[in-house]
Amino acid sequence: MSSSGRVTFHGVVVPPSNFLEDVVAGLALAQKAVPPKYFYDARGSELFEAICALPEYYPTRAEISLTSQHVDAIAQFAGPGCELIEYGSGASTKTRILIAKLRPEAYIPVDISESALRGAAEKLASEFPWLEIRAVTGDFGRPLALSAFGGSGRKVVYFPGSTIGNLTREEALAFLHMTRGQVGPGGGMLVGVDLKKDPNVLHAAYNDAGGVTARFNLNLLARINAELGADFAVDRFVHYAFYNAPMGRIEMHLASLERQAVNVGAYRFWFAAGETVHTENSCKYSIDEFQALAAQAGFRGEKVWTDKDRLFSLHGLVAA
Ligand code: AVJ
Repeated sequence: MSSSGRVTFHGVVVPPSNFLEDVVAGLALAQKAVPPKYFYDARGSELFEAICALPEYYPTRAEISLTSQHVDAIAQFAGPGCELIEYGSGASTKTRILIAKLRPEAYIPVDISESALRGAAEKLASEFPWLEIRAVTGDFGRPLALSAFGGSGRKVVYFPGSTIGNLTREEALAFLHMTRGQVGPGGGMLVGVDLKKDPNVLHAAYNDAGGVTARFNLNLLARINAELGADFAVDRFVHYAFYNAPMGRIEMHLASLERQAVNVGAYRFWFAAGETVHTENSCKYSIDEFQALAAQAGFRGEKVWTDKDRLFSLHGLVAA
């Protein structure tokens, strides 16, 4: 643990996920796959911030707009003096709006990217000198160690950005269940969820004209090469994203342009021409669908806010 002012850093307290193991296991599947959390090395986090500013990528703007519009009601839902825990905090952009209004007892950002976390914590500390920040580097898919908590305030998990959409419905249910245990009875959760809509709007958001999303997706192969000593020919793969309507999700893949072999450490994997690595799901929910899922996990849906164009939703849940 290291500290500067009112910021303390808590390292990974559970065994970190194993990048090599996950990649090798994923590439051995009939439908090759790599978990999307590995997008976020320093370059990937940078590219994701660039995606958020794209004209086609509406979720970030829609969520910021609904958060600003309803900030009083959202702060009232969370309650003053709560411990605000954010999963996948990244640059903490939306959180600023909340923190200013809410004045939490402590802010606990949890992010897998140490560089993004450090940058955000330092900026927040200078903007909000009264705020206690306990930054946790780690994977919010695993239980959070209690050492990151410590205050007496009501625990409220903030999980914006529709990151929950990366999980399948079954995984999202398990994740909500785990989070309900972490906040305890009466604790709260604020979850940002992207809504179902015109598939053309969805398609454009993941196939931007400037190719930033393609670079974000392909960066995963560059990262695997750099960190795992693999030899992906990055220019022989292309970004491929589409809306899978029956599954209610955007799928991102990396498609091989030709038959080729790739070595990852001691392992070799063959790609047929056109074969893909599935790199991300981004599930979309109607308000009712998500409320039903939360109820199944033992949360009571107390509030739902949307932006004026009904592109995005924020659910205020209370642990039963
Ligand atoms: C951060 C998971 C919410 O699914 O929209 C953006 C990631 N992928 N463009 C999303 C992403 C491609 C994003 N989430």
